[in-house]
Amino acid sequence: MYTEDLKNSYPIFDTHSHYDDERFDEIRTELFAEMKQNGVCGIVSCGCDEVSSKMAIKMAEENDFVYAAVGIHPGSIDSGTTVEQIARLATHKKCVAIGEIGLDYYWVDDNKQKQIEIFEKQIALAKKLNLPIIVHDRDAHGDTLEILKKHKPKGIVHCYSGSVEMAQEIIKLGLYIGIGGVVTFKNAKKLPDVVRIIPDELLLVETDCPYLAPEPHRGKLCHSGMIKYTAQKIAEIRGTTPENIFTITAKNAKKIFNIE
Ligand code: NI
Repeated sequence: MYTEDLKNSYPIFDTHSHYDDERFDEIRTELFAEMKQNGVCGIVSCGCDEVSSKMAIKMAEENDFVYAAVGIHPGSIDSGTTVEQIARLATHKKCVAIGEIGLDYYWVDDNKQKQIEIFEKQIALAKKLNLPIIVHDRDAHGDTLEILKKHKPKGIVHCYSGSVEMAQEIIKLGLYIGIGGVVTFKNAKKLPDVVRIIPDELLLVETDCPYLAPEPHRGKLCHSGMIKYTAQKIAEIRGTTPENIFTITAKNAKKIFNIE
């Protein structure tokens, strides 16, 4: 069992994952079946290029509680995937967002203009289709915020890693903030202060699996069952219960992704 300790009666919605990852190939079917049994009511699997976006749609077609996001990740702008290809996939009935898209100056910073161009084109696509965006921002806080202010899309800033001041700006724009396993890490210095100020109605909980497994599983293969530890930590910081965190974040997820 992967998700045994999840068993509960409240809904769990993991708003950010990458179940196309080949590390799930052997266990994906079993994992999805268990999650459904153990309270997971929604998972969004994000695409990073055409191949992973198509895979997200395939998984969404096969599992009623799985939804797809399609997009070109800033780390995949040289993958050959075009915004036109993403636009075709985005009309699928189980595609609930354009993502994961954004800026990443940590891994590559010699193509900033290209990253910005692809990001803005995908924001335009999301607005045209009336879909939210799922934003990746790593070491690109200034440019990301400037673009969000300029275009005012609806959506989520995922795996939030910025300052309290930037979080306040994001909240003012009405964007949701996704909190992941990093909040459980001992070196998550600024994050607890951010978690404290997010209004209930803009808070989301996510895994980004297979990456970023929360403590006490840091370094292992992450899956949505581990979201329990992230919710526990968020609840502790906000002075509430994990059940309350799951309930409000599942409600928020359904609202932003327009589910039900
Ligand atoms: Ni991701």
